[in-house]
Amino acid sequence: MAVLEILKIPDDRLKQISQPVEQFDDALRAFIDDLEETRRDGPAAVGIAAPQVGHFQRIVIVDVSNTRKPVPNHGHMILVNPEITHWEGFEMGREGCLSVPDYTGNVIRATHIKIRAQDPWGNPLEYEMEGYEARAVQHELDHIDGMLFIDRVVSRRTDLFQRKVYQKGGKAKK
Ligand code: NI
Repeated sequence: MAVLEILKIPDDRLKQISQPVEQFDDALRAFIDDLEETRRDGPAAVGIAAPQVGHFQRIVIVDVSNTRKPVPNHGHMILVNPEITHWEGFEMGREGCLSVPDYTGNVIRATHIKIRAQDPWGNPLEYEMEGYEARAVQHELDHIDGMLFIDRVVSRRTDLFQRKVYQKGGKAKK
């Protein structure tokens, strides 16, 4: 396993649209292991998407179970070819990102979603989720479509916030 390099703004590769996974083989699973090790490196991020390490396939990992917001969640999820099939409600909330290390921002997201995906062996998955976990998944799914949270803030003047120190145990990153 290996910790991979994270692409950061203004790297244009972060705007690239990722391709669906078609081969569920050992190479895919080895890459997912590296992506997970990268997510856990340093202060663990709640989520990571394959394009953040320059690998343009539709793969994301989300785990909000260790955050300080004690809400119901599905724990550790590896989502291959994820799609949102249902949205409900909306809410503003603060987000950060491994690829945007110097800022956090207020972004509007659906409060309740249903998703469909595949696991690393190609088996179908379905989840229904809400709140912080739903926000984290929407954030990661944006990455595989070449979107960052800073593309979604309503106003860069009032809804972007500079981080003072990027410290261990600080704000959760995705
Ligand atoms: Ni992110």
